[in-house]
Amino acid sequence: MAGVNPYIEKPNTELPTRIYRIKYLNGDTKEETVIEVDPSKIPYSRTGQPGSILEIALGNGVEIDHACGGVCACSTCHVIVREGLESCSEATEDEEDMADEARGVTPESRLACQCVPDGTKDLVVEIPGWNKNLAREH
Ligand code: FES
Repeated sequence: MAGVNPYIEKPNTELPTRIYRIKYLNGDTKEETVIEVDPSKIPYSRTGQPGSILEIALGNGVEIDHACGGVCACSTCHVIVREGLESCSEATEDEEDMADEARGVTPESRLACQCVPDGTKDLVVEIPGWNKNLAREH
């Protein structure tokens, strides 16, 4: 599932104009994956805002839960932006409301499908190990 949610405010995003890096940290396995983001290849996938932390991850084989298909209607794509948050689009009220539903929210928490870096900083993004997609829990 992918697409846009017509009922939410669209985030005000600025796409990168230069290559930058996102390091994804898996909270479960402690595995690290570094993606070099090439602006000319955005969007890498069709899920989430173009250039978002989620769509870049999915287009590069990094799994982040995304139960609603990246349309800001769940909180399963909750991530913690450990470095580079200042280069990311501002969270909309809709994103903040939805993120409040996630477990373990921190001041650096964002919904990966809505958070679009502008490429002026490299990012370190933690995918919380306890952020389970309820639809997949037994
Ligand atoms: S995937 Fe549902 S809010 Fe991001």
